[in-house]
Amino acid sequence: MNKFILAAASVAALAFAGSASADPIVVKFSHVVAEHTPKGQAALKFKEEAEKLLPGKVKVEVYPSSQLYGDGKEMEALALGDVQFIAPSLSKFDKYTKKLQVFDLPFLFDNIEAVDRFQHGPEGQKLLHAMESKGFLGLAYWHNGMKELSAKKPLLVPTDAKGLKFRVQASDVLAAQFQQLGANPQKLAFAEVYQALQLGTVDGQENTWSNCFSQKYQEVQSDFTATEHGVIDYMVVTNTGWWNKLPKDIQAGLKKAMEEATKVNNDVAGKLNSDARKKIEASQAKVHELTAAQRQEWKKAMEPVWAKFEGGIGKDLIEAAKKSNSGGKS
Ligand code: LMR
Repeated sequence: MNKFILAAASVAALAFAGSASADPIVVKFSHVVAEHTPKGQAALKFKEEAEKLLPGKVKVEVYPSSQLYGDGKEMEALALGDVQFIAPSLSKFDKYTKKLQVFDLPFLFDNIEAVDRFQHGPEGQKLLHAMESKGFLGLAYWHNGMKELSAKKPLLVPTDAKGLKFRVQASDVLAAQFQQLGANPQKLAFAEVYQALQLGTVDGQENTWSNCFSQKYQEVQSDFTATEHGVIDYMVVTNTGWWNKLPKDIQAGLKKAMEEATKVNNDVAGKLNSDARKKIEASQAKVHELTAAQRQEWKKAMEPVWAKFEGGIGKDLIEAAKKSNSGGKS
């Protein structure tokens, strides 16, 4: 009898273990932008590839547009294990490391190709691990693109920005950049920007063409300026503890899926931004190009910010980033 009970119990235990291991691991990926943006498309590609490579083993749920967590909460949610992947812009890690502030220094990178070279060089790769002690592991960089400025008036020279309120991401460098112009920065979550522009809580903002267009800023901003004064890129981060406990085959599959998603992201980012620019040009808003002399004026006005943040970032990182402009790996 005892033997029978024992045998029945072990069969039940086996069945339980079997059904438990048959349940797919649910992987939640939360982000704040619309689906028709570089990050939105890449997150969907990650889901497609992960589920193809690990059939029945993982189920990836993608939550765009701050549906699950907005800017304020997504990192906390990752730390608590309520979500497994997020891809905040590099400007939003201020609280966790000062090193990533290098990406926010105005006019440091000439273009997205230079940003790409820096990210793939030794310093950029090391930065993926800069927050490991805080429980965040960087798996990839995803591009969005260079930032533009917008307001309810033309911004052609730095003094045009004086006295205006600008929305910034949660970044001290970006706040300092606008203070440098005599403007007033306001840190606001991405989901709140359209309304703040509409209500006049802020007068202007900086973002990529694809973010501007997908958030319909052209409805509430009369003038855009192609300044390309900085970059909005992302780091895809996961919870280090969760990641390290994953079975090796799952880790390998997710890594591969991330590589594929990164390729898609970087392939579509340029086109999504140039398409979005054309759509803004076709709207009632105006798009201004800067002359070389005007661009130089913006550069001169914003660049003093570098010195303020050099200590936290490290001179070596800034030097490596500068080198990426000339084509060499950092
Ligand atoms: C922003 O807050 O402006 C951006 O970081 C949003 C994003 O994720 O592209």
